[in-house]
Amino acid sequence: MPRPPVKRDFLSVESWDDAEVDELLALAARVKRGEVSGGLERRVAAMVFLDPSLRTRTSFEAAMHLHGGLAIPVEPGRGSWAMETEPDVVMDGATVEHLIEAARVLGRYADVLGLRAFPRGDDWAATRQDRVHADFARHCEKPVINLESARRHPCQELADGLTLREALPEPRGRRFVLSWSWHPKALPTAVPASAALAAARQGMEVVIAHPPGFELDPEDLATIEALARRRGGSLQVSRALEPALEGAEVVYVKSWGALSAFGRPEAEQALRAPYREWRGSAALLGRAPAAKVMHCLPVRRNVELDAAVLDGPQSIVIEQAENRLHAQRALLLRLLGAA
Ligand code: CP
Repeated sequence: MPRPPVKRDFLSVESWDDAEVDELLALAARVKRGEVSGGLERRVAAMVFLDPSLRTRTSFEAAMHLHGGLAIPVEPGRGSWAMETEPDVVMDGATVEHLIEAARVLGRYADVLGLRAFPRGDDWAATRQDRVHADFARHCEKPVINLESARRHPCQELADGLTLREALPEPRGRRFVLSWSWHPKALPTAVPASAALAAARQGMEVVIAHPPGFELDPEDLATIEALARRRGGSLQVSRALEPALEGAEVVYVKSWGALSAFGRPEAEQALRAPYREWRGSAALLGRAPAAKVMHCLPVRRNVELDAAVLDGPQSIVIEQAENRLHAQRALLLRLLGAA
């Protein structure tokens, strides 16, 4: 029986009950098997992208179309007005429209909204609050989906959960290694935190391997550990990559920046420089030949992951990206009361 639509945001996976998330993943699997069709006829999704996307944007557009609805991407500053996100600002500069009016107006046109805004500024203590997403959701009368914020990428997390369930028929107790990799730029921690949460939710033995100085946000680590324990798994942090790979059944390669130098690219780059050898090379991943290799994409070939790995039998990155579509179809159906 379809449920009545309510204003229910999806800003993080862990803000939903475990049972609801399990149901959502089960629905995503049914959607993927072709057991669910329609349900979003004449429904509209509006997605605001303050930062670029390939997968998130196209998979949401495809998801709405496949169920009979319409998705409208909005790119402020590129075809729509440059958007201001700071509260209480005198808008006498380059920005033309405030997020407050944008959220209110788009909430009148659309049934569900999405927002992507990567971390900005040089103060992690402020940025980690994900205030832009919270403000957008507060001013919007319709459900808001986080399309990636400073702290979380919950749609990626759902897709990664579905991918882990497919890769390992019983993921509980199996070893999942989140393996830091070098990258020419300091990347956000939203994906690594969400990937570890996805594995923790499956009750896996989660290992986060990174060089000294690249610790994830302590509150995120506590959330990952609490979720892993609640679901029958565990969390370990390793500062050595090769030993961490012993017995790995999934290796999720991902780069992220040092939070101690957040917003200071030159200082951060100096912290990262000694660790160029931390990457998903064919030689390294050959040490765990049975392990499946994941990455959220986009990936820099032969920097984060060797082309031989990406093109080889261990890689499930394309299946993982495909699962964005199925997970988001399920999410939209659930948020709009259609399943
Ligand atoms: N993984 C992911 O979110 O991809 P995009 O940045 O291309 O949307």
